[in-house]
Amino acid sequence: MALYSEKVMDHFRNPRNVGVIEDANGIGEVGNAKCGDIMKMYLKIEDDVIQDVKFETFGCGSAIASSSMATELIKGKPVSEAMKLTNKAVAEALDGLPAYKMHCSVLAEEAIQSALEDYQKRTGKTFE
Ligand code: FES
Repeated sequence: MALYSEKVMDHFRNPRNVGVIEDANGIGEVGNAKCGDIMKMYLKIEDDVIQDVKFETFGCGSAIASSSMATELIKGKPVSEAMKLTNKAVAEALDGLPAYKMHCSVLAEEAIQSALEDYQKRTGKTFE
């Protein structure tokens, strides 16, 4: 069996939503101290709905695929729904990741959470 699913390879080779949003109103950056990978998430939120999302990932293939899939999963969703995104959901949407690569999907969850926290700080709103 191949180590990585076709979806992982697809999102690694053709990552969706790569880049920067200049007027983002939610920005989050996280890193993993062990592997040194860094992920930055930009959200453009209007009326508490994620209109646009972009990312920059300096990291492994699984981290790039996870960021790409995570952005696809939250685009167009209300903030309250995006808050519930888990790394498990990201990994499942990618048709799985090898156990030792699960931490790469955790980075995607954390980057989105961090950007959503930033949005809450900027707006003074609180979402469950
Ligand atoms: Fe660190 Fe993938 S090896 S995020």
